[in-house]
Amino acid sequence: MIVLTGATGLIGRLLAAELVGSHEVRVVTRSPRTAGLPAGVEVVEGDPQRPGTLVDALRGADALFLHSRAVGDAAHDVVALARDLGVCRVVALAAANVDDPLDAQPSRLRGDRNKEADDAVATSGLDWVSLRPSSFAGNALTAWGGQIRAGNDVRYVYAGFEESPLDERDLAAALAESLTRDELLGRRIDLTGPESLSHREMVRQIGVALRRPLRFHEVPAEPAARGMVAGGLPEPFVAAMMTRYAAHRTRPQFPPTPELEKLLGRPPRTFAEWATDHVADFEAAG
Ligand SMILES: NC(=O)c1ccc[n+]([C@@H]2O[C@H](COP(=O)([O-])OP(=O)(O)OC[C@H]3O[C@@H](n4cnc5c(N)ncnc54)[C@H](OP(=O)(O)O)[C@@H]3O)[C@@H](O)[C@H]2O)c1
Repeated sequence: MIVLTGATGLIGRLLAAELVGSHEVRVVTRSPRTAGLPAGVEVVEGDPQRPGTLVDALRGADALFLHSRAVGDAAHDVVALARDLGVCRVVALAAANVDDPLDAQPSRLRGDRNKEADDAVATSGLDWVSLRPSSFAGNALTAWGGQIRAGNDVRYVYAGFEESPLDERDLAAALAESLTRDELLGRRIDLTGPESLSHREMVRQIGVALRRPLRFHEVPAEPAARGMVAGGLPEPFVAAMMTRYAAHRTRPQFPPTPELEKLLGRPPRTFAEWATDHVADFEAAG
């Protein structure tokens, strides 16, 4: 039995779908009635940030997926509980920037605890794997989806900032391998997509997929940051994101590693493939 936290979210939902045909899967969620997971997945109510609510979900489990947003500050307590209840294997979703200073990790300002999840599994005394992915390709939808649905002009900061976006489906496949295969045990694995791409190039590739002439307009960081805050993003989060972009203006952040291909036994999906498969998400409704 494999227990998943965070399985109603982007990565966990893909992971549950990867595992369900071949393994017993139990999902723990705060909202079981609206979980909407595939038939065959057992859904149990619980809040990973309150470990006491996980006892029923963890009883009888062999392996646990520790989602760094879902468990938050409770990562170590959740792993300790899993160990006490006889779970043998823990696999963490962490992040490529997990060893950066904590105040330079923008996602911490939204409550994500990648460092704690990574540490909790590595010091658990159980069989463990920690996957440390670079940015998800899906961030392109969050950053630019609204503008692209509205027209062909994309205004954003740091046109030349480069990183190696990773297809969420490949990350889910890598997590499934980590939960079920023994060769990966005891490793922190840095995963990236196959190519380093600038903001401008990602927008161009989305335009190719959409068959539309998207135009990238670089805007200065300060007014853009003010606009993001006015649009509802927390100020410290926006500031940390701008610092990250500025720090990597001239050298790519997280250049490609061969780990994902080695782990999956096939080349990872490209950003162009991701864009082609998400055309509908960039098209205006109606
Ligand atoms: N985006 C990136 O580029 C990137 C790159 C590397 C690493 N990461 C890490 O990956 C994680 C995000 O993965 P994702 O996109 O799959 O997340 P997601 O879609 O936001 O899903 C997270 C799930 O966790 C649970 N959850 C969220 N907030 C919670 C809270 N305050 N208390 C308890 N449970 C909560 C929810 O489950 P229920 O509502 O069912 O309880 C939710 O479905 C983050 O930790 C992030 O730092 C992201």
